[in-house]
Amino acid sequence: MAMIAPSILSADFKQLGNDIEAVSNADYIHVDVMDGKFVPNITIGPLIVDAAKRSTSLPLDVHLMIEDPDRYVGDFVKAGADIITVHVEACTHLHRTIQLIKSHGVKAGVALNPHTPVAMVQHVIEDVDLVLLMTVNPGFGGQSFIQAVLPKIAEVRKFANEVNEELLIEVDGGVNEETAKQCVEHGANLLVAGSHIYKQNDRKQAVERLKSITE
Ligand code: DX5
Ligand code: ZN
Repeated sequence: MAMIAPSILSADFKQLGNDIEAVSNADYIHVDVMDGKFVPNITIGPLIVDAAKRSTSLPLDVHLMIEDPDRYVGDFVKAGADIITVHVEACTHLHRTIQLIKSHGVKAGVALNPHTPVAMVQHVIEDVDLVLLMTVNPGFGGQSFIQAVLPKIAEVRKFANEVNEELLIEVDGGVNEETAKQCVEHGANLLVAGSHIYKQNDRKQAVERLKSITE
């Protein structure tokens, strides 16, 4: 059974606390941080992460889609992040950034855009807690799943089986009941879902369905 991380990007920020409570049967809360530079959208900063933290006891999975993430790691830890994931395309010294995140006592993840080869993270798979594979171009919720990423999930799974069996293999973008199943079949164990969950009236049931479908 896959673990589920609802993305609050698709929540209604007028009632963020309620929309986070509505998915309390999930495993993580996924928080999308965008800087308008690395991606063409601006979203959430530490202030909202702090508010999310006070709305749930679930761990916060903070996905940084920002340039030069080292500058903000401390702020997001202080705000309550439990996992901090950075994009390999945004890090010149990826190994150093991973060590920085871990030095704050939180879990470290690395994310890959759809076109970025898995080889870019091969040599840090032992050092990280999570690899996130983007299955849409980062920036917005509600986009269609890019099928060409599926073999990359299997590649990460293969490396993980060799050197890091505990690795969280997360998929983000266009996840619905159909694509969730494909991701898990290829080796993913953590699924982000934003629009698919939040467009439904019964969000708990949507989370439950994603879990049961991936058993
Ligand atoms: C996209 C974000 C995703 C997004 C997923 O840049 O990283 O987490 O919220 O949204 P859906 O599930 O609607 O594709
Ligand atoms: Zn995300």
